[in-house]
Amino acid sequence: MPRKLAAGNWKMNGLAADLAQIDALLRDHMPSTAEVLICPPATLIAAMAARAHGTALQVGAQDCHTAATGAHTGDIAAPMLADAGASHVILGHSERRADHGEGSALVAAKARAAHTAGLVALICIGETEAQRDAGQTLAVVTEQLRESLPEAATAASTVIAYEPVWAIGTGRTPSIEQIAEVHDTLRAALPDPEIALLYGGSVKPSNAAEIFAIGNVDGALVGGASLKAADFGAIIAALDASR
Ligand code: PGA
Repeated sequence: MPRKLAAGNWKMNGLAADLAQIDALLRDHMPSTAEVLICPPATLIAAMAARAHGTALQVGAQDCHTAATGAHTGDIAAPMLADAGASHVILGHSERRADHGEGSALVAAKARAAHTAGLVALICIGETEAQRDAGQTLAVVTEQLRESLPEAATAASTVIAYEPVWAIGTGRTPSIEQIAEVHDTLRAALPDPEIALLYGGSVKPSNAAEIFAIGNVDGALVGGASLKAADFGAIIAALDASR
């Protein structure tokens, strides 16, 4: 069985004052049987990692460069993230694919850099609404998986998040059958069947339990609902209660 993981993606949200949410999460909602990860903006990684030190809470980043050092103004290298206390890095999120033109080959190169630095790569894939309407979902996600995943990816080094682009931040989610169809297809395509497969896109306390009851869903990548400890804590509890 793959490990269960509740991962929060704070995106471009969070100031030092918001670290109070981490204190509340640790106090009221942990420990849990599932793994718990928060990926704050890079500015908060070190402070959050210090807060999480000695607890089961893991801290991650939201992107990294392909190179370990060099003349790349504004970028952050994977060894720097590890040095700041990160254990994971989200790669290929649809917002980066859209806002920064990141393609799957670049995502794979970033994942290799993450692995070299000892970070777990949390690789995101997902179809647009137009692709789903055109019946291309399974072809799109299978191709993204094949092209974004480094050859050496294992369950210890890699997590996959299926995030339909049209479900992110919209309050809309695929049907249970649609999520199951994609996750079953991805599981069969994974080089290591123990790699955890997360669902992401408008996961919230009210829908978490039914999503976690789907076979081949090992957890969630949560955006908006990860910003408040009470909401994310309810999602962690639903994951703990699943299976
Ligand atoms: P959302 O975002 O939960 O706010 O829809 C998920 C994500 O983009 O990772």
